[in-house]
Amino acid sequence: MTAPATPGYGLPGAGATRPQRPRRSCLAVPGSNPRFLEKAQGLPADLVFLDLEDACAPLAKEGARHAIVEALNTGDWAGKTRVVRVNDWLTEWTYRDVITVVEGAGQNLDCVMLPKVQDAEQIVALDLLLTQIERAMGFEAGRIGIEAQIENARGLVNIDTIAGASPRLETLVFGPADFMASLNMKTLVVGEQPPGYGADAYHYILMRILMAARTHDLQAIDGPYLQIRDVDGFREVAGRAAALGYDGKWVLHPGQIEASNEIFAPSQADYDRAELILDAYAWHTSAAGGAKGSAMLGDEMIDEASRKMALVISGKGRAAGMRRTTRFEAPEG
Ligand code: GLV
Ligand code: MG
Repeated sequence: MTAPATPGYGLPGAGATRPQRPRRSCLAVPGSNPRFLEKAQGLPADLVFLDLEDACAPLAKEGARHAIVEALNTGDWAGKTRVVRVNDWLTEWTYRDVITVVEGAGQNLDCVMLPKVQDAEQIVALDLLLTQIERAMGFEAGRIGIEAQIENARGLVNIDTIAGASPRLETLVFGPADFMASLNMKTLVVGEQPPGYGADAYHYILMRILMAARTHDLQAIDGPYLQIRDVDGFREVAGRAAALGYDGKWVLHPGQIEASNEIFAPSQADYDRAELILDAYAWHTSAAGGAKGSAMLGDEMIDEASRKMALVISGKGRAAGMRRTTRFEAPEG
């Protein structure tokens, strides 16, 4: 296949060049609900996505496009990543969603989320449209990122080419509700395990998305948990995704935000330990520390692999604004 003349198409690892934004909690806000558009601005989510897709009825979509433009241009979204979820390319709404929102509020928008992505061409199509709008409007080229929702079997099968399809890509997002429907999974409780299987029915999907994301330096985000009053249930499901390595999860209700921010940040003890490992390893590998390849930190042996693991934890802690409570002291003599 010949690469089309769109920047970065097919280049693996392009995500590394994008800003690494905190996405511990990604708040869904229906674009057709002015009260929620207002309220979301005061909530402590890392990211908000203003929704033109499934939270917005077909007859409300046109009004919602304009409400979103207004909210982005006049609202106070300080400290939050601003995303708009458009409709998927198999509807009649996508092009108009993108043109209205990006022409109207492109300078106050960080990413466009594309749902139900099935192949790389759908990402390329959005990339091209964004590029044209940026040129026509005089916006900075390539600044607006793309978030891709993986929500059906075809999207998962094609995930590696999707993940490398554009340098605008920042995340791959698991969409459990649509995914369960696409697989004919025998349950109606989104985010919970289907009864009768006895193991984690989502493990393969979550890992597959994570592998593709890490291969292309993208973030991996877990989707919604619809039992919004069951915060313990949310904590359990979010904890599983965080343990695998996911960067964050969707939240649908203020009660889920704090839990998500906590679960997707390291614990204070892990954060302190990670910073200590980085300092200790830097010292032991330096001339002053004897230029060693491995060393002891307390009872633990640390080496280059320990440093890489510590970098991940410290990166997440720093992004969450954590402060260390311990200092490294070089051993005497
Ligand atoms: C989200 O879009 C989902 O389908 O779960
Ligand atoms: Mg969906």
